[in-house]
Amino acid sequence: MRQLRTLNDLSMEEIQMLLNEAELDSKETFEKLPGQPIVANLFFEPSTRTKCSFEMAEKQLGIETISFDVSHSSVQKGESLYDTAKTLEAIGCQALVIRHPDTKYYDELSGLTIPVINAGDGNGDHPTQSLLDLLTIKQEFQRFESLHVVICGDIRHSRVAHTNAKILEKLGAKVSYSGPLEWMDPDLKEYEYVTMDEAVEQADVLMLLRIQTERHDGGGGYTKETYHNQYGLTIEREKNMKQHSIIMHPAPVNRDVELADALVECERSRIFKQMTNGVHVRKAVLAHILNFKGEKKYDYVL
Ligand code: CP
Repeated sequence: MRQLRTLNDLSMEEIQMLLNEAELDSKETFEKLPGQPIVANLFFEPSTRTKCSFEMAEKQLGIETISFDVSHSSVQKGESLYDTAKTLEAIGCQALVIRHPDTKYYDELSGLTIPVINAGDGNGDHPTQSLLDLLTIKQEFQRFESLHVVICGDIRHSRVAHTNAKILEKLGAKVSYSGPLEWMDPDLKEYEYVTMDEAVEQADVLMLLRIQTERHDGGGGYTKETYHNQYGLTIEREKNMKQHSIIMHPAPVNRDVELADALVECERSRIFKQMTNGVHVRKAVLAHILNFKGEKKYDYVL
């Protein structure tokens, strides 16, 4: 694996391998990488989970990081993403982890010789979030086949809904959608739409998505209460979920909007487990990319 822009660039074999290695890391921590590689994390959009878990993964792998603060960088003088990235390459970084508001920002970085790991591009993709979602489901059920995953909420502005749906289906899961119809994506009309009341009864995995207010023009006209009552996981709805079913959410959570405050840490919630898994999948991705040696793809072994 040379770089990671979208999971759709990877084969199912590569995805399964990353999941297996992340799972192994959750039981038996990876050794540090040889040679103390140097990586820069460039976050042009706010982030808590992705940024901090990449940093944790890098520390655990013995990777040195260059601190880069967009608000105190020459980006403020108008320097382009390409020139910023090329500068970090020139001073010796061996890989860049980038979150940027432009969808497919990585297309303008084809002149780099070092790998880019996508930490979220506009409303395009968020491959390490998808991997940690998949790992969380795999750990829970030890399979994907015949699971019913319902993805609920702000589908159109989500970075993970499309990729997760496509890959979960390839892995044998049934995928449905729920949420405001005006936030559905016409490209995903092949998947079944269910109401929230149907979703809670049918889902093995209820994957709730944050309302991406920063990508809306007007917020859809919902108040917290109207959204929660119509499309959220309320205390009452949770009682109708199957006994074994789980709640996921990429976070940050809008408490009492996508789900009731009291459910964020309830027994069936895997929201904080997802965050823990974020470190494991990011370690697996960094290890593979920093050890890529031409044809010999998987040089790094536990
Ligand atoms: N889930 C996620 O990407 O969170 P952050 O925006 O805090 O990184």
